[in-house]
Amino acid sequence: MRAYDIIRRKRDGEELTDGEIRFFVRGYTEGDIPDYQASAFLMAAFLRGLSFDETVSLTDAIVHSGRTLDLGKIPGVKADKHSTGGVGDGVSLAVAPIAAACGLKVAMMSGRGLGHTGGTLDKLESIEGYRCDLSEAEFLRTIERVGCSIIGQTDSLAPADKKLYALRDVTATVDKKELIAASILGKKLAEGIDCLVLDVKCGSGAFMKTEADARELAALMVRIARSCGKKVTALITDMDTPLGNAVGNSLEVMEAADCLRGRAPEDYTRLTYELASRMLYLAGFGSPEACRTQCERAVESGAAFRKFREMVAAQGGNVDWIDDTTLFPRAACSRIVRAPRDGFISRIDTEKYGTAAVLLGAGRQRKEDGVDFSAGIRILKKTGDAVAAGDGIAVLFASHEELFPQAEKLLFASVGYSDAPPPARPLVLGTVE
Ligand code: URA
Repeated sequence: MRAYDIIRRKRDGEELTDGEIRFFVRGYTEGDIPDYQASAFLMAAFLRGLSFDETVSLTDAIVHSGRTLDLGKIPGVKADKHSTGGVGDGVSLAVAPIAAACGLKVAMMSGRGLGHTGGTLDKLESIEGYRCDLSEAEFLRTIERVGCSIIGQTDSLAPADKKLYALRDVTATVDKKELIAASILGKKLAEGIDCLVLDVKCGSGAFMKTEADARELAALMVRIARSCGKKVTALITDMDTPLGNAVGNSLEVMEAADCLRGRAPEDYTRLTYELASRMLYLAGFGSPEACRTQCERAVESGAAFRKFREMVAAQGGNVDWIDDTTLFPRAACSRIVRAPRDGFISRIDTEKYGTAAVLLGAGRQRKEDGVDFSAGIRILKKTGDAVAAGDGIAVLFASHEELFPQAEKLLFASVGYSDAPPPARPLVLGTVE
């Protein structure tokens, strides 16, 4: 078998065999197939699509590209939540400790920023000392002792996704349903969890721009996960406006800490409770209402915040920064973007907000780039808000003034105004169970 022939067959729209897909994934993971051939393969798959069987083969090849975890020794139900990627979507940082404070064991293996979307790992690494690269034994110990742990793909768990994910990020091959499904489920199924809640984002800031596409992606992932014996639910949620008020790594950690103290923006808090209570419900913690009440109590009592502290401490992070978020280093420069007219914000092209945050330094433009943890955007006005000419709609943060003009131009072009308020859009657009 040759990588060249597999690329050519996919380029020509043929269906690959299970053996060909496994050969390619194994070869790329082990370094026998170089980045340039993997890039060509990804682009062929992006343009030609993958059948359901090919997607299952790709998922399974990713799962078995390394070891799989055995969570069986940890008592209790093990669950995870994963988002398909959004802007300002840092809710995993709050969902995991809330669910853990209610007694669920949360084993979360997350990713880095991808395209215009942020990544949970980059956010967590903005906390001084926080380690996303725990060994398997450390991961298991943290889940058992604390109740939750969030790490990155280890070299031994789903290593194929780690490499493919970084390559997709820089080759414009992210927003394809089959590749997203295989990437997410490849990681999730390698974790050995019992239950999974998927947050499938939909709208201008998501990879799936329309509700129909989001529903298709949700149905595909639910079908694959269920065929592997997992309890799974997918929520389709709005990403037509950034979630919460923060876009950027340390800004989003601060927002998560606020949420755990009961002080986050309303949309952020609502989605956090929705996802955490779905996890509890899937795991058999009672009726949807009872699960929701447990989550609210965990926040009100301070138990969820304490869990977050415990997790950060267990993973080497400086908990002083969580107790007092003013300790996070601040960006050297800031600039306010102002509304040009009176009226209401009628739309936000949320992908452009994400891209602006990347340009400010919060994400990567090349695979080997680092991220500036303090760069990002604080959102002052969102879709539906009333504004007067000259009001600040966002504050940009970066390490150098020169980074502002391009990001500012993008933000300016991405906001629409109207004389009357736009129709409200629900936060949760649907569920696939
Ligand atoms: N999140 C992932 O883990 N993978 C994707 O492809 C998209 C979002």
